[in-house]
Amino acid sequence: MPTADDIYIHCDELDNIPPICKKNWEFEISLLATKLKPNAKVLQVGCMDGTRIIALLNTRPDLDITGLDIEQSMVDSCNANLEKVGKKATVILGDITKPVPVSDFDYVICLNNTLGYIPDQEASLKNMKNLGEKVIISVFGEGFDDEISKSYFTSIGLTVQSIDGDMFVMDDFVNVLRYSKDVVDNWDGKITYTPLGYFCEIG
Ligand SMILES: C[S@@+](CC[C@H](N)C(=O)[O-])C[C@H]1O[C@@H](n2cnc3c(N)ncnc32)[C@H](O)[C@@H]1O
Repeated sequence: MPTADDIYIHCDELDNIPPICKKNWEFEISLLATKLKPNAKVLQVGCMDGTRIIALLNTRPDLDITGLDIEQSMVDSCNANLEKVGKKATVILGDITKPVPVSDFDYVICLNNTLGYIPDQEASLKNMKNLGEKVIISVFGEGFDDEISKSYFTSIGLTVQSIDGDMFVMDDFVNVLRYSKDVVDNWDGKITYTPLGYFCEIG
């Protein structure tokens, strides 16, 4: 069974994933760069090895970013990568479905369909709203169709066993959701369309 390290690390390897997925990733960065207010305090849920934090700090060095990840190995590589490039951010170990020892962010961001990998959607949304004034969630929608999804998941080392509506049932890994517009509408935020789905600003 692949470990989290085997899989997640590939999500931000932009030259390895299908071009439309790379485009989506970059689109998220350019939207965030324009949307986040100056000197904002930002929590990224699922910061992985810090690739996204570093990309954000490259375009918005004023941001005060904290990364949160459930995997100790990701926290360690995030810290190592930040140090390697001389960028500063706080990185903490935690599970967004449970209480985490931080608060009072201007924004909580959860990108690249990270929410789709977390089984307890309700607890994740509730905690994100408690942690920040605004919550920004970017997810894959109907545009992440069966063909694109299969090539994306293959590129990050996952095998899709079957597709059950909006649920990708994986061989030996957590199942992954994509989101219909109806589900995102229910979050009651401002929606911007991305190449693969929805960027939703809540609060
Ligand atoms: C799809 S990757 C993140 C994508 C990438 N960092 C980006 O911004 O494009 C998902 C990350 O979320 C983390 N993660 C999964 N479940 C989590 C949870 N319940 N709480 C916090 N982090 C979680 C994983 O360990 C992984 O590093």
